[in-house]
Amino acid sequence: MSSIIRIQDLRFTEYVTPDAIADRVSAIGKALDERFKGVDSIITIITLKGAFMFAADLIRTMHTPMYIDMVKASSYKGGVTSTGTVTLSGFTEEFEGKHILIIEDIVDSGRTIYALLDALKDRNIASCTITALCSKPSQHDIDISQEFVGFEFQPVFIVGYGLDYKEMGRELPGIWRCID
Ligand code: PRP
Repeated sequence: MSSIIRIQDLRFTEYVTPDAIADRVSAIGKALDERFKGVDSIITIITLKGAFMFAADLIRTMHTPMYIDMVKASSYKGGVTSTGTVTLSGFTEEFEGKHILIIEDIVDSGRTIYALLDALKDRNIASCTITALCSKPSQHDIDISQEFVGFEFQPVFIVGYGLDYKEMGRELPGIWRCID
């Protein structure tokens, strides 16, 4: 594959290879199994669309029994920065007394995670753990255990491995950084 690709009006160069992602995803899966040792089962909440690829790979490395729920979380609305307003839809599981694992593709401003935590706060859950493939710590003040974060980035715009630009680029097996 060429080292520079174009998606719509922007150019991107490869930033994290598929092999590096696979190594990190496997390490996070092990750490999460350790985190949930002794727990009968958990509920994973996969944030769509971006986290679909990370979640599919991550949960296949894990051995913790789980129910799977998905929520549509929307904040970018097709652009390169978060809009600040998060819309959530689609919970189907009963969360009371359950250990929750939120699977995010990227924590940017942190508003999506805040909105999810807010939606869970009155549901009497046993615990909530967050895992994210990518994080931009300088952009948010939420406390996420680094053990469950794949990669920490400066505020660069990235696509691939589930992440999009104007709904394109999600299928790329690696993570690509915008160079425009
Ligand atoms: C993106 C991304 C995260 C969220 C992160 O979703 O997938 O869920 O924004 O940004 P935040 O930390 O500033 O909230 P988006 O709204 O683009 O929807 P998508 O997952 O369908 O692409």
